[in-house]
Amino acid sequence: MKITVIGSGYVGLVTAACFADLGNQVLCAKKTSKNLDKLNQGISHIYEPGLDEILNRCLDKGTIEFTNDIKRAIDFSDLIFICVGTPQSETGKADLSQVEDVARQIAENMTDYKLIVEKSTVPVNTHQWVKKTVQRYSNGNIQFDVASNPEFLREGTGVYDFNNPDRIVVGVESENAHKIFQELYRPFTEKGDVLLITTPAAAELIKHASNSFLAMKISYINMVAELCEKVGIDVNMIADGIGYDQRIGRSFLNAGIGYGGSCFPKDVRAFIKIAEDHGLDFGLLRETEKINSQMRERFLEKVENVLWINKDKNITIWGLAFKPDTDDIREAPSIDIVRKLYETDANLRLYDPQAGENFQNLFPENENIRYCSDKYEALKDSDALLLITEWDEFKNADLNKVKNLMRLPIIIDGRNMFESEIMEGFEYYSVGRENTNQSEKP
Ligand code: UGA
Repeated sequence: MKITVIGSGYVGLVTAACFADLGNQVLCAKKTSKNLDKLNQGISHIYEPGLDEILNRCLDKGTIEFTNDIKRAIDFSDLIFICVGTPQSETGKADLSQVEDVARQIAENMTDYKLIVEKSTVPVNTHQWVKKTVQRYSNGNIQFDVASNPEFLREGTGVYDFNNPDRIVVGVESENAHKIFQELYRPFTEKGDVLLITTPAAAELIKHASNSFLAMKISYINMVAELCEKVGIDVNMIADGIGYDQRIGRSFLNAGIGYGGSCFPKDVRAFIKIAEDHGLDFGLLRETEKINSQMRERFLEKVENVLWINKDKNITIWGLAFKPDTDDIREAPSIDIVRKLYETDANLRLYDPQAGENFQNLFPENENIRYCSDKYEALKDSDALLLITEWDEFKNADLNKVKNLMRLPIIIDGRNMFESEIMEGFEYYSVGRENTNQSEKP
């Protein structure tokens, strides 16, 4: 099929590349010419495992192209995916100006039938605004449908998630739109994947409800972790014990320093706001948010309890991205943690396999913040190692080497990357587990 994708962020790029890889003909439009040449050479501006290989494969086959000619992109196909950003506005609501802008451009440029699909995360009933906008700005005689097909892919595993969905949700209002999606997703339904056909409003709501539920699960286990620490029980044992119950499930029950990223924080806030706009107080989600920010504070408290005075101490931080396998630092816990530690005059040595460059835009190098290009280099004469993102590279680190490089063998692990038993010779502190050698404040 011929497909237009508008937007080339994480969702747009992975969607465009993966649809092209399935044999569709895809034209991906972006607003500016920034990175355009690189994309057309198969080099993506984001780090997403497997993506560059797919881009190159599709470019070789001629199934994908990138353009900043929006009119050409709209002419190109009947099926247009809107994958632009829906960031948080000052009020906590989603800022839908980019969605509106694309809807207007489609209206002003379309000359025949279009199926306009929202893939960006949008508040319930946004499709009605998209429909109204297209009606207002088009000449009124051209048929079109608006549908919602929310994306559930995770950064870092986006390509895998696209190809192995737990379910595909599609909200449609016409038989024609329904048929187009059946055709588009045939490769998935043929291998037994679930295609849930519903209304656009329900599809929009499913996305916010899913992300908020997952965020709630994380805050729940983080609160249980707090209790575990007090009573000396390993939170992983509890997560396993409850996770085997299929009604609960083990995933998203990893305790740590809380969720970050471009989705959960903003989507939880947007969902609270949507409920508020309908006269409902979603206290459960407000608590979810509160627990999430407390986790960062608790981590910093732990650092203070262990190190006492941070001033002039060498503190190494491994991991800046909001999760492993991405270079994304949006709302990453590392931001608050680095900011607070910086305020205490500690000497910070930072290392992340991919996100260092993005982080430098927020925290440029200075006499107290140094970026290292190697994880071991960052440890030399260190008084403490803080583990913030659970990259495999850290899990597989040579712990003897770590110990020998550091001035003091202190590790404060915000992601429970290691089992306490293998940490002999270290003062090792983690989350939701008994910290046997926890220093007490005098
Ligand atoms: C999330 C959803 O998982 C996707 O289904 C959705 O498509 C996406 O948002 C989106 O709306 O676009 P993403 O934010 O990329 O995906 O990453 P996640 O794997 O969900 O992780 C989010 C945060 O939760 C990370 O900071 C991660 O460290 C944290 N997390 C995750 C935990 O603290 N514990 C866990 O057990 C799982």
